[in-house]
Amino acid sequence: MKKFLVIGNPIKHSLSPKLHNYWIRQNNIKAVYESKLLGEKDLKEIIQEIKNDTLSGINVTVPFKNLVTPYLDELLPVAKKTGSVNTIFKKNNKIYGENTDAGGFQMSLEHIGFNAKGKKAFIIGAGGVAPSIIYTLKKMGIAEIALSNRTRSKSDNLKKIFKDLKIIDWGNSLKSDLIINATSLGLNENDEIKIDFETKDTDTLFYDVIYSPNQTKFLTKAKKLNNKIQNGNMMFIYQAYLAFSIWHDLKPKIDNNVVNLLSND
Ligand code: ATR
Repeated sequence: MKKFLVIGNPIKHSLSPKLHNYWIRQNNIKAVYESKLLGEKDLKEIIQEIKNDTLSGINVTVPFKNLVTPYLDELLPVAKKTGSVNTIFKKNNKIYGENTDAGGFQMSLEHIGFNAKGKKAFIIGAGGVAPSIIYTLKKMGIAEIALSNRTRSKSDNLKKIFKDLKIIDWGNSLKSDLIINATSLGLNENDEIKIDFETKDTDTLFYDVIYSPNQTKFLTKAKKLNNKIQNGNMMFIYQAYLAFSIWHDLKPKIDNNVVNLLSND
């Protein structure tokens, strides 16, 4: 029986086991997918378990997406550019790190028919998921990306990787076609992003990386002002879809049952 894990801290909230085990059952695969709470000191040992085949694959979530990189033999190009790994696997006796968040984000935009070409984006937050979002938007041909983060040093670090990033002071806003919440603000119901977005233009797409709750205050406010909204549901499903495809060499089905698995929580 193959064993897969999602590692993080905290990890209880993760819906990855629910989703992967659903697809494992649907495809009659002899495998199990579990979650494991870890500390930074445990990373080396857990990756060693892939080397000796105790584990067949690992998904990585906050706060380890960058911290796992020293223990891997090779980073695939997107993981390397973003410094962020969410999927680990072994091939030809080598341990690889891949980033499927970027592809997941792209597929979620394609899913709703959003064409980034020539558009302006404003990203709020410079945490773990931000480099994947920036990478993808650039790949999709975005014209301009502005980013704002409470802690300035973190946005400045991202600008070292993505030189044409425009850094905005925390609390300020600018007119954009796409505004993305990439912070953890919204996970708690009372969380509010205290930024006054210029939302008179109803063509703006407000995107929240958070999928639980289903609709954060950020999205609720945007919807009231007649903007388009998208939560992190489809990005989450597509990053899992890409990881599943790597590990099991087959493309799992994304249907309403899969979407409902996440929104019923
Ligand atoms: P990490 O900090 O380990 O990368 P993350 O969940 O990937 O964790 O990122 C959290 C993001 O939410 C960061 O952009 C963080 O801003 P800081 O860099 O200033 O910490 C942002 N965030 C979390 N709580 C916030 C708050 N109360 N106000 C503003 N931003 C917040």
